[in-house]
Amino acid sequence: MNDKIQVISKYALEGLNAQALNDAALAAKQTLESGSGLGNDFLGWLHLPSSIDEQQLQAIEQTAAILRQECEYVITIGIGGSYLGAKAIIEALSDHFAAYKCGNGPKVVFAGNNIGEDYLYDLMDLVRGHKFGIIVISKSGTTTEPAIAFRLFKEMLEKQEGKEFAQRNIVAVTDARRGALRNLATQEGYATYVIPDNVGGRFSVLTPVGLLPIAVAGFDIRALVAGAVEMEKDGDEQVLNYAIARNALYQNGKKIEILANFAPRLHFLAEWWKQLYGESEGKGHKGIFPASVDFTTDLHSMGQMIQDGERTIFETVLSVGDQQHEVIIPTDEADLDGLNYIAGKNVDYVNKMAELGTRLAHVDGGVPNLLITIPAVNERYLGQLIYFFEKACGVSGYILGVNPFDQPGVEAYKKNMFALLEKPGHEEATAAIKARL
Ligand code: PA5
Repeated sequence: MNDKIQVISKYALEGLNAQALNDAALAAKQTLESGSGLGNDFLGWLHLPSSIDEQQLQAIEQTAAILRQECEYVITIGIGGSYLGAKAIIEALSDHFAAYKCGNGPKVVFAGNNIGEDYLYDLMDLVRGHKFGIIVISKSGTTTEPAIAFRLFKEMLEKQEGKEFAQRNIVAVTDARRGALRNLATQEGYATYVIPDNVGGRFSVLTPVGLLPIAVAGFDIRALVAGAVEMEKDGDEQVLNYAIARNALYQNGKKIEILANFAPRLHFLAEWWKQLYGESEGKGHKGIFPASVDFTTDLHSMGQMIQDGERTIFETVLSVGDQQHEVIIPTDEADLDGLNYIAGKNVDYVNKMAELGTRLAHVDGGVPNLLITIPAVNERYLGQLIYFFEKACGVSGYILGVNPFDQPGVEAYKKNMFALLEKPGHEEATAAIKARL
């Protein structure tokens, strides 16, 4: 069995001259590695896995141990890059029904990733009367969604458990020096972790942004980091394969990439991937639109569109080797459902046949298919996958000719929102926007 994730482009590149992109891809990789490209002040993630030392891991594990010991719930507050990585890894590794089961350690729940009033109300209702802690994550320290959530849950925790408990069980992950959250954490004496200046939000899952919540959820951050180190040291072939194939497809009119999984636990990994590629590549009116589907679920909703809609898409399937558990389909004497032909097989065998059948059908329908094989979903292979996608994103962005490490476009809605909320300092914009209504 392979001990690394692999990219297989057998059904992706028919009729394309992907080799023509080889030189561009090697040049992009060189630009990335030499730090000579656009956004080169945000390359801290490139050698991050191998730079994480024992002291850093121990510190995170110790903080996690305190929260695990004292709390029934740990509310992880953050949005975008300060949310999706931890959410993706925790969901991928968790029992699917963990929320409904009693277990060891606290339940990690998320807030500050939306402005849903009912969401916040329900979460407050959930933790009322229970011991809870807070990990508040914001690189800028000023993002509206997490700031609102933190204000609410900080006040609630202090009232419910007292200032001392709150101080012990609130951890801030933020910039080393700047921002409202840094100032607040210093004033209140919270434990803090730093998001390095040169690591952007969507590349930060292997910093305390991701590692702390993942450790609190009870997962092995050492194995996660070790997996990432494996790809840092020996993943370039796969990185190039992916970056070349997706750019070759894009140049051939395939403007949408659908990341498909056949494993429900990978749903949020695709959400993390969408931010990584969407924010990195969508610039200058260019970029592959990253979309995602959960199969076989979405074959019963989006399947028609993929099979037969406009031919501007290609598909990248995340294919998992081993399942963690075996469930055998039983024989039924009456066989009224007609399923005896697969009796004695395990459920994953059926899923794998659905996966292969789907890939071939989509290829036949004009949807090129890339395959990324993952030996199993565990910390090690998820670590590999994270680093692989990050580096391929950097290479891909440079092939495309954009700065993959900034995100100027995300400010536009915020300006309007602040103007509409009449935030001090936005008076002119408030007047201008009101004139449009
Ligand atoms: O990638 C990004 O920069 C954004 O998605 C941010 O991660 C998100 O807006 C959260 O920012 P912050 O961590 O500063 O609160």
